Amino acid sequence: MSDALDYLLDVRKDAIQPYFKFLKEGGKHLDDKTRFLLSVITKVNAQTEAGLKQYLKRALKEGNSADEILDAMLVCMPTLGLSKIIWAVDIILKMELPEFDPEKLGKIEQTKAVQTKKKQWHKLIEITDIKEGASRFEYGKQACFVSRDGDDFIVFDSICPHKASNIPGDAIDGMTLECPMHHWKFNLENGECIENGNQQPLTKIKYKIEGNYLFVYS
Ligand code: FES
Repeated sequence: MSDALDYLLDVRKDAIQPYFKFLKEGGKHLDDKTRFLLSVITKVNAQTEAGLKQYLKRALKEGNSADEILDAMLVCMPTLGLSKIIWAVDIILKMELPEFDPEKLGKIEQTKAVQTKKKQWHKLIEITDIKEGASRFEYGKQACFVSRDGDDFIVFDSICPHKASNIPGDAIDGMTLECPMHHWKFNLENGECIENGNQQPLTKIKYKIEGNYLFVYS
């Protein structure tokens, strides 16, 4: 919130509070993903840099992809005009958000499309063939990392959350995984990004054990 709004809230609470109530109530039938996407557009239109930065991050956090945010701005070009869109893209580029990297844009959408269209159970491997620690297995055109601690398993997608490269098996070093592309490091006990990254973890994959086989849902 801006200092000016803070000030008005302090000295003219009765007048300003209904405004915030209106903002909250006005979008109550929208899910958060849509609401924050629209908020980004309003910030582009008003050309408020701090607001745009704040709502961009929130829109991404609520599940919007960079492609969806760019599309939303372009669809609104009749209202925004090209110059405001260029202004916004300049700010986005300065923020160096990995989601907007040109190399990653199409890939993320393709990966999402594969994941949403073809999710199903895959018979991965016999339990007795999974060693303690971390291993990589392939199934069809996909792959995953399986961490084993006795009878406990955890499965991660092999696609790097940074720029969607497919991380190979020789990137495993004990319980650490280092993506060879830009050297983000992940803890294979929980998927967390522990070095060089921006906190984005590996994607967990649901699994089940049936008849001594590990199945993954992907
Ligand atoms: S693609 Fe950049 S660290 Fe993996």
